[in-house]
Amino acid sequence: MDMRRIGRVTLTTFEWLGVIVFGLLLLIVLAISVTLSCVGKDPEPMGEDHLTAEAVADQAEVEMMAPAPTADEAKSLFAPVHRVLASPRCANCHPEGDRPLARRGGAHAMNVSRLSADDGLACGTCHAEHNSVVPDGPPGAPHWGLPPAETPMVFQGRSVTALCQQLRDRERNGDRSLDELLHHISEDPLVLWGWQPGGDRATPPISHEKFVAGFTAWVEAKGICPGETEPPALDPVEGETEAAESGEAPV
Ligand code: HEC
Ligand code: HEC
Repeated sequence: MDMRRIGRVTLTTFEWLGVIVFGLLLLIVLAISVTLSCVGKDPEPMGEDHLTAEAVADQAEVEMMAPAPTADEAKSLFAPVHRVLASPRCANCHPEGDRPLARRGGAHAMNVSRLSADDGLACGTCHAEHNSVVPDGPPGAPHWGLPPAETPMVFQGRSVTALCQQLRDRERNGDRSLDELLHHISEDPLVLWGWQPGGDRATPPISHEKFVAGFTAWVEAKGICPGETEPPALDPVEGETEAAESGEAPV
């Protein structure tokens, strides 16, 4: 009888051990899966391209500097182009007023402005053809400088619609046709610099390839802007400038 009892007691002890071991295993599996689900979490999606922390900070700044797009603007052909133009890598050299902006949208050191060259302090005094390798040194690309005072080509703080209308306007864009603009944004060294900005500067929010593709689509749609069902007649042939400007269709 003792043997049976002991046998039974022994069995029960094993059962208990089994329950405890099984419970522990369950807890461990649970702990591991909880840990994995936290550690391995994907970063929040931030648009089409992967954005670095720098880019997120820069983008937040753009949103502060340029009015938020309306629903119509956001789905317009010009929206992706606007996102690039309004980004700091471009808008810093296309500012409101005479002073370039420096990083984080702040003021450029030494009160540099369009007039500085007159005082013997041309952009090229500090900005070379290549980015400085010194931390916080001046970035560089060929012909570093601001757009001319007569056509300042302001990108900073412009809404999608305002910038769209300004960019296609020959009186404000340096007398360029849409095709010439496309050529400019595809190949100009100052534009290309935006994607090779040096240091820890963020690149614009979409790749240069996607920017060119978006710009091409806009050019193929003849520079249409939000709120329009048809783009206005652009690029008037010589002699018909006045007719186009007064809104009459060229003959
Ligand atoms: C005295 C030297 C000096 C002169 C002159 C100068 N810069 Fe700069 N610039 C710098 C330095 C250094 C930086 C990098 C530090 C920074 O971004 O704040 C810089 C940064 C910039 C940036 C920021 C680039 C970016 O997006 O991060 C722009 C834009 C710029 N300069 C434009 C100009 C223009 C346009 C001129 C001429 C009108 C000019 N600078 C003249 C020294 C100079
Ligand atoms: C170092 C300053 C600088 C930077 C950075 C810069 N630009 Fe410019 N941009 C200029 C100057 C100067 C002109 C005028 C060139 C001319 O008339 O030949 C210009 C002209 C343009 C034009 C044509 C005219 C118009 O209507 O605006 C476009 C488009 C343009 N830039 C786009 C960009 C884009 C996109 C970026 C960023 C990826 C950029 N720029 C960055 C200096 C700069």
